[in-house]
Amino acid sequence: MIPLLSAVVFTIMIKSIPLFKRVQKNLDRVTGITRENLTGVRVIRAFRKEDEEIAAFNAANDDHTGFQNFVGKISALMNPITLILVNGGVIVLLLSGAHFVEIGEMTQGEVVAMTNYMAQILVELVKFANTLLTVNKALACGDRIEAVLEAPVGMAVQEGSSSSALDTQTAVIFSNVGLTYEGNAEPSLTGIDLQVPRGATVGIIGSTGSGKSSAVQLIPRFYDATEGAVLVNGRDVRTYTPEELRDRIAIVPQKPILFRGTVRSNLLWGNNNATDEELWTALEAAQAKDFVLQKEGGLDAPVTQGGRNFSGGQRQRLTIARALVRKAEILILDDSSSALDYATDAALRKSLRELPERPTIFLISQRTSSIQHADVILVLEDGRSVGVGTHEQLLHSCEVYREIYESQFQKGEDAE
Ligand SMILES: Nc1ncnc2c1ncn2[C@@H]1O[C@H](COP(=O)(O)OP(=O)(O)O)[C@@H](O)[C@H]1O
Ligand SMILES: [Mg+2]
Repeated sequence: MIPLLSAVVFTIMIKSIPLFKRVQKNLDRVTGITRENLTGVRVIRAFRKEDEEIAAFNAANDDHTGFQNFVGKISALMNPITLILVNGGVIVLLLSGAHFVEIGEMTQGEVVAMTNYMAQILVELVKFANTLLTVNKALACGDRIEAVLEAPVGMAVQEGSSSSALDTQTAVIFSNVGLTYEGNAEPSLTGIDLQVPRGATVGIIGSTGSGKSSAVQLIPRFYDATEGAVLVNGRDVRTYTPEELRDRIAIVPQKPILFRGTVRSNLLWGNNNATDEELWTALEAAQAKDFVLQKEGGLDAPVTQGGRNFSGGQRQRLTIARALVRKAEILILDDSSSALDYATDAALRKSLRELPERPTIFLISQRTSSIQHADVILVLEDGRSVGVGTHEQLLHSCEVYREIYESQFQKGEDAE
């Protein structure tokens, strides 16, 4: 019986391992489509793609269901087949036992004892086979989890003089920085040189795709420069541990992202120990105090997934407040006032200038009006620096900057 049982169990196992892996892949696709549909539901409606999306979902779902049924049937065969084998064994034992009792070689008691022993042993074997099947499924899942956990960290901390050369005058230095994203043929940044004194405000301007976000993302080391080096406090960012580096930096990403919870729980991301008073100060500086006060619950007002119960401009201001709570040395705002009206934008810039801790500020904007009072302005075009200076200097010396300024200046006049 045991060789027979083993043969059955191993055949089913070998057949089902690759199938389980495919089931998981199919499930991935179904959940992927579901998530995409949920996050893009407005776009789907606007482009009237409902029917196509429903069809795509049904196709993936049917595929998954069919396959899952198939695999289910194979594993469902296990119990009936093994039980038939076990009970067949009992029948054989009883028949041959009856023969031996008749010729007087065995007593009836011995036969009954034999069938009991055999039933016990075989039933345990069947349970073992079922466990193997579960382990199999777990292995297929484990492989997938392992692939995520084992993904290599691309950002090793380099050896460096951690204590020496702490430059207290310049907060950030870009030294001939170039960046080519993995898989891109063209570099996104080339030869950027910039020295930023502590407490200064840097404006970065340029058309979309000119590399503004790429440049500031090198400061908290979201990416590594492929050429040159970025220095914070005179030290290469690659020699900092991620905690050390990112504790100094507060960044407001281009896309305002909030997490489900309350206004307070989102702001505390900036600093877990902040008091309510500090939170309100940050909200006020970020021009977010008024609308948070109007929300029922104030700081405890709920934030739904992705912050969808706030408008785009409100979300931007909450993400700015979250960064301000951190009171970091370096504050980076990546096009964070794009959804704000001019008056709010101006009030925001004024309060940033008046922050008591006087951080070094990087302001990215498409509007010259947002950055014209910056201490130094960097003009980017196609990943190259085409001008560095103050507003007045650039108006004279940088054609790209003058064109951007004039196009917006005239637009402003027409609107009035
Ligand atoms: N994560 C990324 N992977 C690959 N290429 C990227 C990535 N982010 C940006 N790029 C490329 O780098 C260039 C600059 O992008 P970005 O810095 O976002 O510009 P900006 O912020 O000025 O609009 C673009 O051409 C874009 O294709
Ligand atoms: Mg950008």
